[in-house]
Amino acid sequence: MSTVYLNGDFLPEEDACVSVLDRGFIFGDGVYEVIPAYGRRPFRLQGHLARLQDSLDGVRIPNPHTAEQWQYLIEKIIDANEGEDQSVYLQITRGAAKRDHAFPSNATPTVLIMSSPLSGAGAELLKSGVAAITTEDIRWVYCHIKAICLLPNVLLRQKAIDAQSAEAILIRDGLATEGAASNLFIVHDGIIRTPSKGPLLLPGITRDLVIELAAQNHIPYEEANILEADLTRADEIWLTSSTKEILAVTHLNGTPVGNGKPGPLWERMYGLYQQYKQLLREGKM
Ligand code: PDD
Repeated sequence: MSTVYLNGDFLPEEDACVSVLDRGFIFGDGVYEVIPAYGRRPFRLQGHLARLQDSLDGVRIPNPHTAEQWQYLIEKIIDANEGEDQSVYLQITRGAAKRDHAFPSNATPTVLIMSSPLSGAGAELLKSGVAAITTEDIRWVYCHIKAICLLPNVLLRQKAIDAQSAEAILIRDGLATEGAASNLFIVHDGIIRTPSKGPLLLPGITRDLVIELAAQNHIPYEEANILEADLTRADEIWLTSSTKEILAVTHLNGTPVGNGKPGPLWERMYGLYQQYKQLLREGKM
């Protein structure tokens, strides 16, 4: 049975209730974070909390907690739930109020934190890589905000699933921006490339670490546009996220990427990422 935090209380998930008038339910009016924990230690917590603050500022919801309070609540939820490795989900909505698009004058934000065991991609997927499709990005233009209104992402991801693929890589004005729930990297002639941060993609915490690891290990990388056509020329394509970590895309729209197997730079970066996680587990981060 999992324990969640809701508006000041820790309680069993099945006892946690919010109002039908909650603006998260009615309008998708809220923001969220997904924070992995390894060895029960939250991963890159400061980065996640900084992005949470940016998302809250972006939708003008006051932050209900200080960074210290968030850390305390997140650590308590990790302690209260099963699994050495967990995926912590936190969500803040503008709160419950009579339905009206305009901001309510006196609603209290709803705060939910929950966690589930995190199992990673699994040996088979790591070995084979995954299939992806490309499709038009139908989302809004504030993709840097981690907003809970994810209907376009849901439809895009399902389109990938319907095509027996794991993820949809999104194209806007001829540029590949990110996946429906992940950031995008390609490797071309030994150089790793990922699009620069901006309003058309989520500034992923995993993305930041991959760039950091590339810099520390003298692996050439650049933050630059990826044209749709660059995807078909790429030697490797990767997707990154808190739950997927770094996954190799080995088939795109039914065609092999490179030789159709995870590439050597993916293998190197995946290894560096696992080392980083291990240091965190041992309390050395
Ligand atoms: N999604 N881009 C989008 C659109 C995402 O939804 C995500 C993560 C990412 C990667 O961000 P990060 O590395 O910080 O996880 C990029 C989470 C995991 C989700 O919605 O479940």
